[in-house]
Amino acid sequence: MAEPVSPGGIMQLGIASWGSKVLLSAVELGLFTELATGPKNTDEIRERLGLHERSTRDFIDALVALKMLNRQGNLYSNTPETDAYLDRAKPLYLGGLLEMANARLYPFWGRLTEGLKTGQPQNEIKEGQDLFGALYSDPTRLEIFLQAMTGLSLLAAHAVAASFPWESYKSFADIGCAQGGFAVTLASAHGHLSGIGFDLPPVRPVFEKYVAEHDLGVRLRFQEGDFFKDPLPTVDVLFMGHILHDWNLEQKQLLVTKAYDALPAGGSLVVYESIIDDDRRENAFGLLMSLNMLIETNEGFDFTASDCIGWMKQAGFADARVQQLHGPDSIVIGRK
Ligand SMILES: C[S@@+](CC[C@H](N)C(=O)[O-])C[C@H]1O[C@@H](n2cnc3c(N)ncnc32)[C@H](O)[C@@H]1O
Repeated sequence: MAEPVSPGGIMQLGIASWGSKVLLSAVELGLFTELATGPKNTDEIRERLGLHERSTRDFIDALVALKMLNRQGNLYSNTPETDAYLDRAKPLYLGGLLEMANARLYPFWGRLTEGLKTGQPQNEIKEGQDLFGALYSDPTRLEIFLQAMTGLSLLAAHAVAASFPWESYKSFADIGCAQGGFAVTLASAHGHLSGIGFDLPPVRPVFEKYVAEHDLGVRLRFQEGDFFKDPLPTVDVLFMGHILHDWNLEQKQLLVTKAYDALPAGGSLVVYESIIDDDRRENAFGLLMSLNMLIETNEGFDFTASDCIGWMKQAGFADARVQQLHGPDSIVIGRK
């Protein structure tokens, strides 16, 4: 007789949003930042975070069960992971992405079924605004979004800083640089590099503040521009991180071609994204990110390495290859 199949996996995934929301609320409340200063008991946590007593214990014990906190006796502390990545005071803080997931994406994803039926975005665009216009018309939303982008790209930036043959290059530009997390990581790791953050005008003060905080104002500068209307800067390496997935096929191909036109012979375009595996069955994060583009953009979608290599070859790049980074991210490198 065949073994009875278990519903465990279905139930676990079906209510995964509960656990996800517990983590997102913990980030919103600054729990991991509080615990980074030392272990605390239930009453101390409740007072510091301004929680009601009814569910504080369930909330923090759920985080213990979900392996986001440790508990010893009656004292709660961060795990090594939550301490490194979710303490706002630490350089590898990735919580910006989770803050945006909590403040914007969580309610928008509640309308996924409608998006699947209509093909229409389910965010601010629904109220007739364009995505970046809507985000950038409100200073708080602007900052949350740009910080979130640092959370999204910081690990990729560290991997690229460590694995790219930088000794052969002197200059780079990050196209659609957001807060500047990627550019700052590269420039901090390699003292001989100078770089440009290229983005829409409202991004300038947020980029310049972040660069100044890292003391890199001499080697990193901001260049205002619209990548559909203006030429891209001519540098040794052009980066596009989470840019192509925002746009339709024609716009993706146009951006790759503009990069080719701007690069000198021997220069490279590096695309960093959660690239979907060619067989479209392994990289769940990449596939979910593509659904996130349904929620967030008019026509955007994520893509496979073969797709991207094809666009690069079509634009004229002499060779193009994919390199997997840690986690769900990969880079596709096209050499002119
Ligand atoms: C999804 S974010 C990616 C940010 C960053 N590269 C990363 O991976 O974390 C897209 C970026 O493209 C910028 N952007 C959008 N439309 C643009 C345009 N037409 N010209 C220049 N930048 C644009 C946005 O301001 C934003 O910073």
